Amino acid sequence: MSYPEDLRDSVDAALEHLRFSAAAPTAGLEEAMRYSLLAGGKRVRPVLALATARALGADPERFLPVACAIELIHTYSLIHDDLPAMDDDDLRRGQPTSHVRYGEDVAILAGDGLFAEAVRLFCEQPGDPARVLAALRELAGATGVDGMVGGQYVDVIGDEADAEGLRALHALKTGRLIAASVGVVLILEGVGEHETMPYRRFADELGVLFQIVDDILDVTESDEQLGKPHGSDERHGKLTYVSLFGLQRARELAGDSHAKARAALAEADGETEDLSRVADYIFTRNE
Ligand code: IPE
Ligand code: IPE
Ligand code: MG
Ligand code: MG
Ligand code: MG
Repeated sequence: MSYPEDLRDSVDAALEHLRFSAAAPTAGLEEAMRYSLLAGGKRVRPVLALATARALGADPERFLPVACAIELIHTYSLIHDDLPAMDDDDLRRGQPTSHVRYGEDVAILAGDGLFAEAVRLFCEQPGDPARVLAALRELAGATGVDGMVGGQYVDVIGDEADAEGLRALHALKTGRLIAASVGVVLILEGVGEHETMPYRRFADELGVLFQIVDDILDVTESDEQLGKPHGSDERHGKLTYVSLFGLQRARELAGDSHAKARAALAEADGETEDLSRVADYIFTRNE
C-alpha cells in the first residue's frame, strides 16, 4: 500500500496554476506566497480531501478548489510557525524559510495573503451554496481559536500539561485542520450525520497521530530528510510526545493511534482504500 500519488499530482498541478497578484506593485508578494506554497510539501491535507471524495464515490477533481484552499491555509501556518517570534527556524520544505528569504515583514504578509486567498478560493468551490458556506464555516473553525491558531497559542505559552493536555494541544494545533480536510468534503457531499461518524472519528484520530509522528521525527531524522531543522522542539523546550513520554512510549502511542484510526475507518461505508493508504503513510513516513 502506498500514498495515492495520482491525487498528490492533481493537487500539485492545481496549486501551480494559482495566481494571486493582478498588478505589478504586489508581484513580489505573490512571489513570496508561491515560493512557500510550491516548495513541495507532502500535501497530506488536500490529498485527504480528495481521497474522501473518492471514498464517497465522487470525482476527486471536483474538490480541487477546497483541497487547495486547505493547503494554502496550512502553508500560511508554516510560514508563521517558522518566524523568529515563533519557532525561529530557517529551513522549510528543503529551502530557506520565508522570513530568511524575503524578510519578516514580507513573510508575515505572505502568510496573511495565503489565508485570505484561501477563503476566496474556497468560495469558488462549485456546489450547493448552503453546503459551501457550511463547509467554509468548518474550515474557518478548524483554523481559528478552537483550532490551529488556538493550538499554536497553547504551544507558545507552553504551560505544563499532562497526557490529556498534550493530546488536546495536538488535536487543536494539527488535528483540527487535518480533520477538516475530511470534514469539508463530507459536508459538501451532504453525507448524513450517522454516516459521517466513522469518517469523523477516523479523521480526528489521524490528526493527532500526525502530530505525534511529527514530534518523533523531530528527534529521529536529519534536516535533509525532513526538509526542516530537526531538534527544533528540544531547542525551544517544547512539550511533545517525546519530551513527555520518551521515544519508545511515543512510538507505542503512535501505534495505538494508528490502530484506532484504522478501526474507525473500517466502520465507514465507501471505497476507503486511499484513505487507508494515507493513514498508513502518516504512521510510517520518515519525512
Ligand atoms: C508540518 O506539516 C507542520 C505540522 C502540522 C506538524 P507537514 O508535515 O504536513 O508539512 P508539509 O506540508 O509536508 O511541508
Ligand atoms: C506546528 O507544529 C504546527 C502548525 C500549526 C504549523 P510544529 O512547530 O511542530 O511544526 P514543524 O515541526 O515546525 O513543521
Ligand atoms: Mg511550532
Ligand atoms: Mg515549528
Ligand atoms: Mg514539529
